[in-house]
Amino acid sequence: MLNVVILAAGMGKRMQSELPKVLHRIAGKAMLEHVVDNARALNPERIIIVVGHGAEQVQALFADQKDVRFVQQYPPQGTGHAVQQAVPELMGYEPTHTTLVLYGDVPLVQPATLQRLLEARGQGLAILTEKLEQPAGYGRIVRSESGEIVRIVEHKDATEHELTINEVNTGILAAPTPQLRDWLSRLRNDNAQGEYYLTDVVGFAVEDQVPVQAAHPDFAWETLGVNSRIQQAELERAWQSEQARRLLEQGVTLADPSRFDLRGELRCGRDVYIDVGCVFEGQVELEDGVHIGPHCVLNNVKLGAGTVVQAFSHLEGAQTATQAKIGPFARLRPGARLGANAQVGNFVEVKNASFGAESKASHLSYIGDATLGERVNIGAGTITCNYDGANKHQTIIEDDVFIGSDTQLVAPVIVGAGATIGAGTTLTRSAPAAKLTLSRSHQQTVEGWVRPTKKK
Ligand code: UD1
Ligand code: CA
Repeated sequence: MLNVVILAAGMGKRMQSELPKVLHRIAGKAMLEHVVDNARALNPERIIIVVGHGAEQVQALFADQKDVRFVQQYPPQGTGHAVQQAVPELMGYEPTHTTLVLYGDVPLVQPATLQRLLEARGQGLAILTEKLEQPAGYGRIVRSESGEIVRIVEHKDATEHELTINEVNTGILAAPTPQLRDWLSRLRNDNAQGEYYLTDVVGFAVEDQVPVQAAHPDFAWETLGVNSRIQQAELERAWQSEQARRLLEQGVTLADPSRFDLRGELRCGRDVYIDVGCVFEGQVELEDGVHIGPHCVLNNVKLGAGTVVQAFSHLEGAQTATQAKIGPFARLRPGARLGANAQVGNFVEVKNASFGAESKASHLSYIGDATLGERVNIGAGTITCNYDGANKHQTIIEDDVFIGSDTQLVAPVIVGAGATIGAGTTLTRSAPAAKLTLSRSHQQTVEGWVRPTKKK
């Protein structure tokens, strides 16, 4: 039986923000959500978050996540005091029952590392430690001559000699739940900071002859905490390069892994190419051979094999079949669906509209609430007038239609298969199939007209 306790009561003064620290984001996701998601991967019985500063905002983020419970800590009196607040919520009375302590501002500890920590515990206590070249500020792991862990000493309480120890406490630990309850009740705050230190449970375990083991993270970035915007930015880069590394390993080409941003999930087929400066958000799926040009934003998008997105395109909630061509400077909004070989070019906006195979809108158009058949050609400057100020209406354009430039289609309207619409038409009624329809005032030339000049 596994309880996860996440400490998130700290105020985060150094962030200089109105937002509670644990709600600041890494890769588009609140730090605390990263921690909760990683905890969930371990299938815990309970997830208990200790909140204090900004408790309401923190709780609101998890309002619909019923597997998460909250306890309050106010005022904060140390990490041990924080875990004490969670004791009434802890399940389990057997030494095999575990409580894992995580930190809301250490967002990227990976499930594989946590799994190893849980295994290292056996029936005893396990702490996650690592060796740092610059251990200043961290609690140090004091070991006996035979290498057994004896206790943790906080930097501020350490002797000169203890400060030379470079094995540090990451803060994360896994303990037998019944013993942890007992150890927490024995904590005292007679130390340099006047706080109840969670780290003192290590000394109690040794006293009680409970074995204490250490486990180590796979990557240094896993245990980095965020206390400032600088550390947030550094961790963001570390995580982005990890995500980039995973994609490279899967066979994706990234023009420059250091100019790649993924704020969600990206699934790629074979031989996908991604140029510099792109941002991927939500769930993005790129099938085989998709090519993304520089500086594109893709949010909840699924692109069929061989689709090419050229520079500076913005795609949200869109889908394409194979070999679609988008951009440069295109905007696909939610509900945009492009068939095979369809094309959407520069300064074209598509919303809630589908293009059949081979259909094209190459320049300067707005296509909204529309259904286009196959091989439709939309001339430059075409607008579907889908909104009457109160309601949205549909435009239907059947196969093989040619829409001349600068046409307005005042919806609801249907253009029959094979129709041609003359340039400059304002179409207010449906146009019959296979015929030329146009609305155009007659051109005239005014004889004898003189252009006005400025009066001197
Ligand atoms: C803690 C460890 C230290 C370790 C370091 C790793 C203790 C006594 N020390 O020190 O050994 O090297 O983390 O970063 O545990 N928090 C609360 N309530 C509190 C105090 C803290 O919720 O009353 C939360 C904070 O929001 C933060 C986490 O606990 O998420 C760690 O607190 P922090 O004050 O940063 O601990 P350190 O002094 O850095
Ligand atoms: Ca800290």
